[in-house]
Amino acid sequence: MEGHFLFLMFHLSLTLPIIVRAQNQSGFISIDCGLEDEPNYTDETTSIYYSSDVNFTNSGVSHSISSKYKASLDRQFWNVRSFPDGTRNCYTLVVPQVSSKKYLVRARFAYGNYDGKDSLPEFDIYLGDSWWGSVVFQDASSVVTKEIIYAASSNYAHVCLFNTAKGTPFISVLELRVLNSEAYLVNFVELLARFDVGLQDGEIIRYPDDVYDRIWTPYNSNEWTQIDNTLTIDHDATTSFDFLPLPPSIVMGTAAIPANVNDNIEFHFLPKNNASTCYVYMFFAELQKLQANQIREFNIFVNGDILNNAPINPIYLQNAYHLAIIENPLELWINKTSGSTLPPLLNAIEIYMTKNFSLSETYQTDVDGIINVKSIYGIKRNWQGDPCTPLAYLWDGLNCSYAESDSPRIIYLNLSFSGLIGNIAPGISNLQSIEYLDLSNNNLTGAVPEFLSQLRFLRVLNLEGNQLSGTIPMQLIVNSENGLLEFIFGGNPSLCSPGSSCNNKNGNKVVVPLVASLGGAFMILVITVISFCIYKRRQPVSHHLSKQNAYYKIREELESNKQEFTYAEVLSMTRNFERVVGKGGFATVYHGWIDDTEVAVKMLSPSAQGYLQFQAEAKLLAVVHHKFLTALIGYCDDGENMALIYEYMANGDLAKHLSGKSKNILSWNQRIQIAVDAAEGLEYLHHGCNMPIVHRDVKSKNILLNEKFRGKLADFGLSKIYSDEDDTHMTTVVAGTLGYLDPEYNRSHKLREKSDVFSFGIVLFEIITGQPAITKTEERTHIIQWVDSILLERGINDIVDSRLQGEFDIHHVKKALDTAKACVATTSINRPTMTHVVNELKQCFSKMMTTPSNSDDHESSPNSFITVSFDGISGQSSLQR
Ligand SMILES: *[C@@H]1O[C@H](CO)[C@@H](O)[C@H](O)[C@H]1NC(C)=O
Ligand SMILES: *[C@@H]1O[C@H](CO)[C@@H](O)[C@H](O)[C@H]1NC(C)=O
Ligand SMILES: *[C@@H]1O[C@H](CO)[C@@H](O)[C@H](O)[C@H]1NC(C)=O
Ligand SMILES: *[C@@H]1O[C@H](CO)[C@@H](O)[C@H](O)[C@H]1NC(C)=O
Ligand SMILES: *[C@@H]1O[C@H](CO)[C@@H](O)[C@H](O)[C@H]1NC(C)=O
Ligand SMILES: *[C@@H]1O[C@H](CO)[C@@H](O)[C@H](O)[C@H]1NC(C)=O
Ligand SMILES: *[C@@H]1O[C@H](CO)[C@@H](O)[C@H](O)[C@H]1NC(C)=O
Ligand SMILES: *[C@@H]1O[C@H](CO)[C@@H](O)[C@H](O)[C@H]1NC(C)=O
Ligand SMILES: *[C@@H]1O[C@H](CO)[C@@H](O)[C@H](O)[C@H]1NC(C)=O
Repeated sequence: MEGHFLFLMFHLSLTLPIIVRAQNQSGFISIDCGLEDEPNYTDETTSIYYSSDVNFTNSGVSHSISSKYKASLDRQFWNVRSFPDGTRNCYTLVVPQVSSKKYLVRARFAYGNYDGKDSLPEFDIYLGDSWWGSVVFQDASSVVTKEIIYAASSNYAHVCLFNTAKGTPFISVLELRVLNSEAYLVNFVELLARFDVGLQDGEIIRYPDDVYDRIWTPYNSNEWTQIDNTLTIDHDATTSFDFLPLPPSIVMGTAAIPANVNDNIEFHFLPKNNASTCYVYMFFAELQKLQANQIREFNIFVNGDILNNAPINPIYLQNAYHLAIIENPLELWINKTSGSTLPPLLNAIEIYMTKNFSLSETYQTDVDGIINVKSIYGIKRNWQGDPCTPLAYLWDGLNCSYAESDSPRIIYLNLSFSGLIGNIAPGISNLQSIEYLDLSNNNLTGAVPEFLSQLRFLRVLNLEGNQLSGTIPMQLIVNSENGLLEFIFGGNPSLCSPGSSCNNKNGNKVVVPLVASLGGAFMILVITVISFCIYKRRQPVSHHLSKQNAYYKIREELESNKQEFTYAEVLSMTRNFERVVGKGGFATVYHGWIDDTEVAVKMLSPSAQGYLQFQAEAKLLAVVHHKFLTALIGYCDDGENMALIYEYMANGDLAKHLSGKSKNILSWNQRIQIAVDAAEGLEYLHHGCNMPIVHRDVKSKNILLNEKFRGKLADFGLSKIYSDEDDTHMTTVVAGTLGYLDPEYNRSHKLREKSDVFSFGIVLFEIITGQPAITKTEERTHIIQWVDSILLERGINDIVDSRLQGEFDIHHVKKALDTAKACVATTSINRPTMTHVVNELKQCFSKMMTTPSNSDDHESSPNSFITVSFDGISGQSSLQR
């Protein structure tokens, strides 16, 4: 046996109808390219509804083919669209919302001397960013059909023509049909042949006989005899199977048998591409009523090897099929068996070739958004095909991120000086990964939409030089003040800042902005306060919000619902700053009393940093309230003296209790309780507010303990330049504390909740081990490495803080460790959410130590290897320094 091949075989008698499709054209897109005289028509023979291509492509020129070719061609071929300009021109087909994303896409071409040059062009066709094939013509009247069946990831199909300098590309017909999602088993196959074997009169069969509008071409040979049967073949065309849409009954109702009873049926392949695998579907149904002494029985041979394991004898009027999956197909024989009195028969055959595609398509929601932008502003440029792929044809003014496993995302959109007219396109709200948005210097009108403040990764927003009006959404101002967003909006004469009176003709006086309101009710309150305050304060006259400006707002906010104290009152409260309970970079915390309530008074240094911390923290505290976040009671803003007054946390910070300094030893359950408390506080920050709030400085020093050793998260709103002087190695603008810092954030400077999750993981390691984030030894080992090395050398029992003296359940330790490990996964997407962390930690409380654990974890060996169980991550975490 010569040749290297592989085949698989299926033999099924198909009896179960699964889906009955309606005989309408839902899931069809049928485009007559170049059609200009009318927007649409229904084809008389097929009843397929064709529309013009004007809404599917940006470019190209419409032409009619030479009249002498029209007679031999269907109406769809009478017009073509040619693309004399640009090397790449695309059609974008938007598939209606359907459950399946398995598409049959068919592009058809007939030259018909449309350009009067009598010169056959040659060009390439692409599906998205993948090369589909070359279009080569035999003569002016021949039709070239390219058909592909593939599993798409989105509702878009981009078909592009490439000019390869061998003539102008053009196209006649473009069709898309939605198939069953399992159809034809594979993700990418190109049609090589689809034959209705034995059809007499040479008519093509397609829709409506074939509900999927597959085109069945007649196929005959002089050496064959045609047989037919007009009865319905069991399961007619309205029946379909998940993985194989059957040929219509009319196709199955004709077959060929060798004219000579002793002959067999043979096919020879002329492979165009040796590397491809062929899928050959052969369909059989007996069409003759056999006498008792008649037998039709045959075998299929592929490159000389038998395909079926039992001889095939088709059943009268019943569909059966065989699939041969063949590498390097050369020849295929259907040979009758020695016991057969009748020659073999074949009703239909389909041959597909697998395509080595890895279609990369932009994330669908982003495409929806940018297509909305494109259509609203009528943008042409090179905006064709997929926005982000292929890289060489990236849409002008756009940039994307290309993560390895994910779909590309749009992260940058610059439409400055583009003559845009109208409102800010709603599609922009879809661009959820966008970091830079520049719409400056256009003629945009209308309001600044609220959704811009919901774009979580937006770092630069430029709306300068437009005719925008109305009030700027408050959250945009807040983000801009928090340093999360660079927001430029000057040169919009009618645009007002929140809180200013927009009826005021002094439109340029952009005024007191802000208030970090995240809640509706609160917002109403604050706005009332602002409008009152405006007349009390000197108005700044800048488009950019000054710090002073923001500062007034915070005061107003505080005035609205917190107590204000004078410096004298603070002095008396703290008994002249008698007892220091904490010290940070720009503040000292003193113990104090307000009436019978103990308080912590944080005096801020009268520096820029002190001011900023005052701002950031007060702003957040004014709007976030949670039992596991330290509460703000009042403030002092008296000349140079700024203070924030908090509830007093009697047991100080967690770091102190974990270090050897404290005499009190936290039990396992106390530790887990504190971890759960802090995790819930963090979860609230991440998910409990309209906008996620990133703490940025989660560490054991920032978890405070009350008299009952319950934990509360403190010190939010760390601003970019703030750092704690205890941790002196912070020199960059990266916020956070060394040892707790997310290595990914460190690299990318992208602030995400998952950075807090990383830091929390470190805290969790500290809680379990009693070790500091970075050892105080010469080597300064990071706790992640410390844990890894102890696990490796000594096992899980030795991980746990030795002061617990074995008072813990090893299963709970293991679970807590797993959770911590998941939190510190190197890549942020692999880290769990805080919600998940809270749930995991709640399972880590130990019962009485003497009771054996009834954990259902059968791995009882305390030295068992720790596996990380979130989202299928594996591998080790490491801290990048
Ligand atoms: C076409 O058929 C589908 C599937 O049965 C059905 O959901 C849809 O409403 C039909 N459309 C028309 C226009 O009849
Ligand atoms: C193209 O789209 C426009 C706007 O949606 C529509 O009015 C027009 O009828 C469409 N043209 C065709 C040929 O479908
Ligand atoms: C088809 O074209 C006719 C005009 O010839 C128009 O009235 C009709 O709305 C079009 N149908 C669709 C679905 O575009
Ligand atoms: C099938 O039949 C042809 C002739 O009809 C013969 O040449 C070929 O060897 C046969 N194949 C096998 C495997 O028997
Ligand atoms: C396919 O394989 C044959 C023989 O192995 C070889 O002669 C031919 O060049 C190959 N064709 C292509 C396109 O690789
Ligand atoms: C498929 O394409 C990939 C990259 O595009 C290539 O590495 C691989 O060898 C190809 N496989 C085949 C069978 O051609
Ligand atoms: C797009 O992003 C890449 C990678 O970040 C960068 O090299 C390139 O300059 C950017 N292009 C534009 C037009 O901003
Ligand atoms: C947008 O493009 C303009 C001109 O090409 C450039 O000046 C501006 O900096 C760009 N905006 C951003 C956000 O990159
Ligand atoms: C855009 O606005 C400018 C200034 O208001 C005006 O001169 C120009 O005509 C406008 N352009 C369009 C296309 O409306």
